[in-house]
Amino acid sequence: MTIISAAVVGACSCFLLLALSSACVSRAAAAAPGCERRRTAEGTTAGMEDAERETLFLVMEAVSSDRDWRVSNPDPCAPGSSWPGIECTGGEDGRFHVTRLDFGTPLNPTCKKAATFPSRIFSLPYLQSAFFFDCFRSHNTSLSIPPVLTTALQQLSLKSNPALTGSIPPQISSLRSLQVLTLSQNRLQGSIPESISSLTSLVHLDLSYNSLSGLIPSELMSGLRNLAGLDLSYNSLSGPIPASIGKMGSLQKLDLSSNSLTGAIPDSLQNLGALSFVALSSNKLKGPLPAGLPKLGNLQYFIMDDNPMAIELPSQLGRLEKLQELRLANSGYWGPIPETFSRLANLTTLSLQNNRLTGSIPPGLGDLRRMYHLNLSRNMLRGVVPFDAAFLRRLGRNLDLSENAGLCVNSSVDTESTKLGVGMCGGDSHQNTSTMLQQQQQQQQTTSGAGGGAGPPVLLPAMWGLCRLLLF
Ligand SMILES: *[C@@H]1O[C@H](CO)[C@@H](O)[C@H](O)[C@H]1NC(C)=O
Ligand SMILES: *[C@@H]1O[C@H](CO)[C@@H](O)[C@H](O)[C@H]1NC(C)=O
Ligand SMILES: *[C@@H]1O[C@H](CO)[C@@H](O)[C@H](O)[C@H]1NC(C)=O
Ligand SMILES: *[C@@H]1O[C@H](CO)[C@@H](O)[C@H](O)[C@H]1NC(C)=O
Ligand SMILES: *[C@@H]1O[C@H](CO)[C@@H](O)[C@H](O)[C@H]1NC(C)=O
Repeated sequence: MTIISAAVVGACSCFLLLALSSACVSRAAAAAPGCERRRTAEGTTAGMEDAERETLFLVMEAVSSDRDWRVSNPDPCAPGSSWPGIECTGGEDGRFHVTRLDFGTPLNPTCKKAATFPSRIFSLPYLQSAFFFDCFRSHNTSLSIPPVLTTALQQLSLKSNPALTGSIPPQISSLRSLQVLTLSQNRLQGSIPESISSLTSLVHLDLSYNSLSGLIPSELMSGLRNLAGLDLSYNSLSGPIPASIGKMGSLQKLDLSSNSLTGAIPDSLQNLGALSFVALSSNKLKGPLPAGLPKLGNLQYFIMDDNPMAIELPSQLGRLEKLQELRLANSGYWGPIPETFSRLANLTTLSLQNNRLTGSIPPGLGDLRRMYHLNLSRNMLRGVVPFDAAFLRRLGRNLDLSENAGLCVNSSVDTESTKLGVGMCGGDSHQNTSTMLQQQQQQQQTTSGAGGGAGPPVLLPAMWGLCRLLLF
């Protein structure tokens, strides 16, 4: 009886109080029509429609085993109802409606072992947001969407569900109000349905970390004009990046890394002036880069390691003034490190390791005050390392110049504390080779300690996490 809320009591006060309120509780869902139209003393509604409430119970039964929700919370939207993970909002019709459901994260209802995806959520007409995190784990289940529905759903987030398999159904396009669609870290397969392109209200689309294959539909990019964030990373998508990407004028974050995309970056990318984050690492993309790339005046992160680019390192990248991270490792770039890179005043990370770069290190790089991670190892750079002691101290072990046979440091510079991997200029050749060996050994120890030098695939997720935080 303690769960009888003030609302129930108030609502049923025109009847014999005790008798009816117990009826409302024990046979909440269908049997007590008298309880529907009740109002609280303030005049706000407490009742839900029977059909909506019944749908909600069926959803809970498919997903949660925390408790028997029918019994423990017969009136989920009533003020004072202790139903975690649910949000109700009073509608214009004078009733309460379920507007948000949240499963799997702490404090919200946990998911039972045999939880399956409850398509019935799409029959909750007022539901605006639904979240399922780490919910479908052992019973394979798929994202199924009824063909005809009227839904107000603006945000659907299914994340980290190892048993969510099958493909993304084309009927997803009937979720017309969707603004945020997150289907990340599941086991989704098949291709990306073209029909997603008709979800013109979408602002964020995240399908990362699945097993999606096939081409990126060209329509996807021409249709989603309001998209600010597109993440298709860590899938098995192939073919080129559609030129229609140039129509996504609101795009701020683009992540297509770790797929099998081929061809060159389409020139139309240069039209996306709002872009601040671009990650295309670990694909099969080749050069050249779009000539108009410097038009991306808001670009802060350009992350494109591990692609067979095989072009001269373009000096125009030095015109991307806002760049904070530039990662172009392991991609067959050749030629000198352009002097223009010294103009990137906000650069914190420059990764150019494992390319075919020649010439000497531009002294201006040493003047970049925000730089804290510089990796130029495994190239063919030559000459005297132009960095002063303060720069070397500041970067410490985040500076790596190893495996450039032609580089050396002035003997006056103390490199003890760094990971330079570079010998002294001139002087005793025994000393410089022994220093090199010693430093290489140190380096091997540290890289194997940090996961065998697996490089970008290990580093990137963490960084993306950070960028997601920063950007959205
Ligand atoms: C569940 O789906 C995965 C991925 O599609 C598949 O490999 C696995 O065999 C399925 N398990 C069962 C029990 O069907
Ligand atoms: C560099 O960063 C600072 C601080 O975040 C910012 O105020 C400044 O506008 C940035 N400079 C450029 C060229 O983006
Ligand atoms: C290296 O030392 C020589 C002679 O001591 C000096 O002339 C030269 O400027 C130094 N170079 C750098 C890059 O510090
Ligand atoms: C630089 O890159 C090399 C080659 O990928 C890697 O082994 C090393 O750990 C990196 N060093 C730093 C300081 O990031
Ligand atoms: C080591 O010293 C020799 C002889 O001075 C020089 O030719 C060579 O370039 C030096 N190597 C490095 C890595 O500094």
